[in-house]
Amino acid sequence: MLLEVRDLRVEFQTRDGLIQAVNGVSYSVDAGETLAVLGESGSGKSVTAQAVMGILDSPPGRIAGGEVRFQGRDLLTLRAEERRRIRGEKIAMIFQDALSSLNPVLTVGYQLGEMFRVHRGADRKEAKARAIELMERVRIPAARERVNDYPHQFSGGMRQRIMIAMALALEPELIIADEPTTALDVTVQAQVMDLLAELQREFRMGLILITHDLGVVAGVADKIAVMYAGRIVENAPVHELYSRPAHPYTKGLLESIPRLDHKGGELRAIKGLPPNLARIPAGCPYHPRCPLARDVCREDPRPPLYEVGPRRSSACHFWKETVGE
Ligand SMILES: Nc1ncnc2c1ncn2[C@@H]1O[C@H](COP(=O)(O)OP(=O)(O)OP(=O)(O)O)[C@@H](O)[C@H]1O
Ligand code: SF4
Ligand SMILES: [Mg+2]
Repeated sequence: MLLEVRDLRVEFQTRDGLIQAVNGVSYSVDAGETLAVLGESGSGKSVTAQAVMGILDSPPGRIAGGEVRFQGRDLLTLRAEERRRIRGEKIAMIFQDALSSLNPVLTVGYQLGEMFRVHRGADRKEAKARAIELMERVRIPAARERVNDYPHQFSGGMRQRIMIAMALALEPELIIADEPTTALDVTVQAQVMDLLAELQREFRMGLILITHDLGVVAGVADKIAVMYAGRIVENAPVHELYSRPAHPYTKGLLESIPRLDHKGGELRAIKGLPPNLARIPAGCPYHPRCPLARDVCREDPRPPLYEVGPRRSSACHFWKETVGE
């Protein structure tokens, strides 16, 4: 297994008290595989990724437990230097906002080339040539002419392609993409997503794709982990999740996707809000919003991740009812 996160817990000390942003998350991704991590805002998707990547805002954040095994070794217990080396060379991250990730006063060619100068000992000329090559790989038109342009001279979609190029530069084994297309127009979103998926297949990288948009993941993910209030509430291969969701929260998310074949039908967003993480309700954290909730759901212990089938699990006491409907 390329990456295996086990029982990860992350806390934040805030004025509101101790927030359990990630509460026992386990997931894994293999070479050439795409795991989509899905959930509403505040469910802990990014914080989990930050803990894996070693870029958690700490303090106030703290990893309170768990393991992050990359190619079998727990990154959380490695010496700092070794950990930095692995994270710099073998794991890359793509963020939503390229403008704040790229340096505005340096040309994109310089920034791409820097990866080769710093990590591969390339000289300026070679670095520039590699930068152009990368820009061509992510299909930036007229790469040779544009290599000396600054980030703001590119459109949002092109900037996001540059972010992908940066991530690919050192040929990492794992890419974590946190909402890589959220800031883009819908048509550009699809193009950038397709490009990312294509390059991932070509390089046989593992990909963790974080998104709150189920529509984005349909064509690209192999499996999905659905997060709610800092926990994974459902794991499933992508097609099974779409056809037979085993958690009422997943069902709610699916019902809130706009469908082209569903003219005039109203869009049903899930009622209510996710819980305040400093005061997660007893029992099933989803019970205040769940149409199937009954007494047992309001009482501890919380529903565990029940095994639903091969590579499938659901943290709902009534998953059988949910799947069977
Ligand atoms: N720097 C921080 N200080 C305090 N609390 C934080 C910090 N970063 C995150 N949190 C807490 O962790 C929770 C989970 O945040 P996270 O960014 O992982 O959500 P997310 O699922 O990525 O949401 P989104 O879809 O909006 O990106 C937040 O609701 C917040 O309570
Ligand atoms: S355990 Fe109960 S409240 Fe939670 S999702 Fe299942 S039915 Fe709903
Ligand atoms: Mg996030």
